[in-house]
Amino acid sequence: MLETLARVDDRIQAHFDKVLDGLAPSGLADAMRHAVRGGKRVRALLVLESARLHGIGAERAIWPASAIEAMHAYSLVHDDLPCMDDDLVRRGLPTVHAKWNEATAVLAGDALQSLAFELAAHRDGAETPAARAELAFELARAAGAAGMALGQSRDMAAEASAAQPDPDDVAELQALKTGALIEWAAAAGPRMALADSSALRAYAAALGRAFQIQDDVIDVAGDAQSAGKAVGKDMAAGKATFVSALGLEPARQRASELAEEACAALAPYGNEAESLRDLARFAILRSA
Ligand code: IPE
Ligand code: IPE
Ligand code: MG
Ligand code: MG
Ligand code: MG
Repeated sequence: MLETLARVDDRIQAHFDKVLDGLAPSGLADAMRHAVRGGKRVRALLVLESARLHGIGAERAIWPASAIEAMHAYSLVHDDLPCMDDDLVRRGLPTVHAKWNEATAVLAGDALQSLAFELAAHRDGAETPAARAELAFELARAAGAAGMALGQSRDMAAEASAAQPDPDDVAELQALKTGALIEWAAAAGPRMALADSSALRAYAAALGRAFQIQDDVIDVAGDAQSAGKAVGKDMAAGKATFVSALGLEPARQRASELAEEACAALAPYGNEAESLRDLARFAILRSA
């Protein structure tokens, strides 16, 4: 899986280089380049694979794949700000506000979010105007006040609350803050093809939760060097996570059940979906 993801990273990075090279030189453009560098590219792989399953090649799918990576990068730049998780290291590099300043991090996040819509709606991506409109519309829903932003808001509210987190509330929070963008990525292929996305959305709903639980496990049981970001912060900050709600082993168990659920949802695609099954297994074994 790591080799597959490294190949996706090469394609995504080349695409961002091309797109961002068109911007006039500025600190803002430099900060955007920095922010899109170096992720695992899980969401991009979901777009490319779901597109392949629906007969759409990478030369078109690279547009929505880079769109979701731009949206995700924006969410991380803002997530790391002092007013949110207050982190200095991301992907093994200084966070944008640490390397530049807070204003640049806010603006680079804003601009990456706009760029995400530009890429999702690009004419070289989905072939039909209807599919491009659908991608952009659903991306707005996934990222906004009924999706990722709401999840982030719940995450911050839970941090400020003294109450013991309820596992059902944590599941909902995670479906919003992490699941919504992952679902958009997995549904991008069928959306480009104007086809039914229900099986891939069911896969992604389970995968997204397994993925975020493993992120919470890494915070407790991982190391900063491998993770490329600070660990051991969630408990101290009072975050609502599966680990804080259930404990480490039950959280691991839940992630593993969810990964199996994700694989089972791919039944309609048969053997063709093996790399998405590999991705679900990777999601709960990863150390970064
Ligand atoms: C980190 O996402 C934040 C979560 C939503 C769990 P990733 O673990 O996919 O981060 P990168 O893109 O690989 O850095
Ligand atoms: C971040 O969750 C989710 C989003 C940015 C939407 P976390 O705060 O747990 O992610 P990390 O651990 O900083 O990567
Ligand atoms: Mg956070
Ligand atoms: Mg964080
Ligand atoms: Mg985390």
